[in-house]
Amino acid sequence: MTIQHKPWGGRFEEATDAFVEAFTASVDFDKRLAAHDIRGSIAHATMLQRLGLLTPQELAAIVNGLEAIAGEIEAGSFPWSVHLEDVHMNIEARLTERIGEAGKKLHTGRSRNDQVATDVRLYLRSEIDRICGQIRSLQMALVDLAEREADTIMPGFTHLQVAQPITFGHHLMAWYEMLSRDYDRLCDCRKRLNVMPLGAAALAGSSFPLDRDYTAALLDFVRPAANSLDAVSDRDFAIEFAACASLVLMHLSRFSEELILWTSAQFGFVDLPDAFCTGSSIMPQKKNPDVPELVRGKSARVFGHLFALLTLMKSQPLAYNKDNQEDKEPLFDTVDTLSGCLRAFSDMMPHVRPNRAAMYASAQKGYATATDLADYLVRRGTAFRDAHEIVGKAVRLGIETGRDLAAIPLEELQVLSGAIGPDVYDVLTLEGSVAARSHIGGTAPECVRKAVAEARVRLAGLREA
Ligand code: ARG
Repeated sequence: MTIQHKPWGGRFEEATDAFVEAFTASVDFDKRLAAHDIRGSIAHATMLQRLGLLTPQELAAIVNGLEAIAGEIEAGSFPWSVHLEDVHMNIEARLTERIGEAGKKLHTGRSRNDQVATDVRLYLRSEIDRICGQIRSLQMALVDLAEREADTIMPGFTHLQVAQPITFGHHLMAWYEMLSRDYDRLCDCRKRLNVMPLGAAALAGSSFPLDRDYTAALLDFVRPAANSLDAVSDRDFAIEFAACASLVLMHLSRFSEELILWTSAQFGFVDLPDAFCTGSSIMPQKKNPDVPELVRGKSARVFGHLFALLTLMKSQPLAYNKDNQEDKEPLFDTVDTLSGCLRAFSDMMPHVRPNRAAMYASAQKGYATATDLADYLVRRGTAFRDAHEIVGKAVRLGIETGRDLAAIPLEELQVLSGAIGPDVYDVLTLEGSVAARSHIGGTAPECVRKAVAEARVRLAGLREA
């Protein structure tokens, strides 16, 4: 061994500066990759033995040693050392300490460059599977609530002004749709990341006739990466994942914003369970929607991580550069933040209590059925633009006299248009308005129930959490 006992220390004459050692080390955070690193090493060693580069006895010693190390790590007794820089060298050094000479052969035909790229892909692949399961759980909760609230009437908004009546179930199913796209996007990201860098070695490949197909199969990768330079330097998959995560968080942030508005005294549409809120240290009456507020806030850091990863990559010449070590903390925090927000939402959703009376009363304000009156006139032969004008006048009359459209007597409406008959009140009710929108994608209770049934079929076919 050399003066400083670094696995790469052969050509060095001076010890690493103490600050530089700490500055360049990644073990404090990349130890999270340990299980994947061990799995990759076992597959690599198995392939080396197949080529005759390890004896069966050496392979057995390596596999047993790595499994014992996995046990130490799980038990918290593994002697992590900053001096050994990263997770890869910590594990390799410990292996040699435990099993002797065979441990020194493990790194044959491999570099930390293809090793770390493989570890991160293995890690992210399993996290994507877990997160997809979490998205599915949240969707289940939304679908359950949507089914219960298929007939619940609430105001639908544009510009945050009352626009037209909708059903609460329909609104919930809009959230479901967003999450379906998020799920599909993550599956798509998983497809692209599922190729194996191992065998690319440092950058140019290996002078050993590595059987990369075999190693890829052992690690459940679809195939080995096609170009060694690209294999060690590609972090597109991390950026793509951060983009997918940003979209999920953007959606969760929008849900949060609505829940925050809806729980306010001004709306009063829903109640959140006490367990998901906190109080104020000074104002005794307060019950604050902390969980949605925090989810809305946490979306910001994930958007930041996406930008950090893009910026990290944009100026790197091929192939591996140490810059890449900076991919891990943003990526890990993206996983943790996303997963935590999904967990908070799916735990909370079954306990969201709608206040149906408040939603109904709110839909009665703001002339939400004005479009229905215009459509009614069109069915009676009035051109839509003329109908729009007539209904505008009816709304003005309502505002001036403090009445909703349905409360204006027939004689007064007929002054505005002779086409209006006594059956006009059927379309001016909230129930009539939502029931009329019964085409695909409409808000009618029957459509909500159909969308719920279709969603249940889709969810049954997805991987569970
Ligand atoms: N800790 C490093 C990383 O995360 C591992 C690869 C280091 N390779 C190297 N040639 N220094 O990227």
